[in-house]
Amino acid sequence: MKNIAILCSGGDVSGMNAALKRFVEYSIAKGLTPYFVDNGFEGLIDNNIYQAGYSDVAGIISRGGTKIHSSRSERFMKQSYRKQALDNLKTHDITSLVVLGGDGSFKGMQVLGDESEGISFSGIPATIDNDIAGTEYCLGVDTALNMIKYAIDSIRDTASSFSRAFVIEAMGRECGYLALVSALTSGAEMCLIPEIPYDLDNYKESFQKQIKEGREYFIAVVSEALKKSEEVAKWFDEEIGIESRIMVLGHIQRGGNPTVYDRLMAFHFVTQAIDVLLEGNKSSVICYNDGGFNHKKIEEVAFKKYQIKEDLLKLGMEFGSHK
Ligand code: F6P
Repeated sequence: MKNIAILCSGGDVSGMNAALKRFVEYSIAKGLTPYFVDNGFEGLIDNNIYQAGYSDVAGIISRGGTKIHSSRSERFMKQSYRKQALDNLKTHDITSLVVLGGDGSFKGMQVLGDESEGISFSGIPATIDNDIAGTEYCLGVDTALNMIKYAIDSIRDTASSFSRAFVIEAMGRECGYLALVSALTSGAEMCLIPEIPYDLDNYKESFQKQIKEGREYFIAVVSEALKKSEEVAKWFDEEIGIESRIMVLGHIQRGGNPTVYDRLMAFHFVTQAIDVLLEGNKSSVICYNDGGFNHKKIEEVAFKKYQIKEDLLKLGMEFGSHK
C-alpha cells in the first residue's frame, strides 16, 4: 500500500474538511502518498484525481462543506462507469480508498470492492441524518444540531414576542434523530418524528390547558420525513387558535464551521480508516459506539435500518403525553 485516496460522497457535512486535513497529514506520517478525488464518485469516473499535500489542507479545518466537493452519482450505478473509475485508480497506482458518506455511498463502495482486485476500501459515516446502522455517531451531526439549536433559539425570540406557534421542519431524510434531539435540547413543546406514533388530540388537550395557564407561544419540531409541516401549522391555527408560521430550516443545517466535537471526531475517524487499511482489511466501515471505535463489514452497516437508541426514544415519547 503506497498511494491512498479520499473522496466525499452524498450530502456534505461540516467536519469533512477537518477529515481531509487529517487524511493528508496522517497518510504522510505513515509513509503513504495521499490523493484527493474531487466531486465524489463522479470525480472517480472522470479522473478528477490529484496528489494532495500540506498546502491543500492549510486553513481548511474551520470551514464547513468539503474542499474536494461532493456529489450523488447516477452514472456510478452502471458497471461500465465503475470500470472506468477503477481504471482511473489503477492509473494513479492507488490501492486504497477512503470514502466519506452515508449508506448509499457505502453500497457503492461495496459494489466497487466486489468488482476490483488489489484495491481496498474504508468508509467513514458522514451524514447529518445520523441514520447509519451500526454506528451511534456520524460525522457532522453535532454541528448540524448546533446550527438547529441556534435557529430555534432565534425563532423563540420572535415566537414569544408575537405569541405565535412555529412549526420548524428539520432534515434527516427518513430518520427523526435530528428533529428529536433538537426538540429536546431546544425545549420544544411538540416533536413529531416517524419513529414515534403521535396523536394530535392528546397535544390539543394539553396545549389548551397550557394556554389557560398562561402559555403564549409554541415551538413544534417536525421531521421532514413526515411531510406534515403544513398540516400541523393549519392545526395550530384552526384547532388551537394560535397564529402559526412554518420555518423549513433547509440546507443551513448542513453548513457552518464544524464544532470542536466534529473536528475531533474527524481526526479519529480518519486515523481509524487509515489504520484499518494498513492492517490489510479490504472493505470496512469505521463505527463509533459506547465511546469507542471499531470497524464493521459494509453489509452490517449499509443494508440495515438505523434505530434511534431506546433511552432517547423514551424521552421523545413524553412529547404529547402530558395531560
Ligand atoms: O442526507 C443529508 C440531507 O441533507 C438530508 O437530510 C436531506 O433530506 C437531503 O440530504 C437533501 O438533499 P439535497 O441536498 O440533494 O437537497
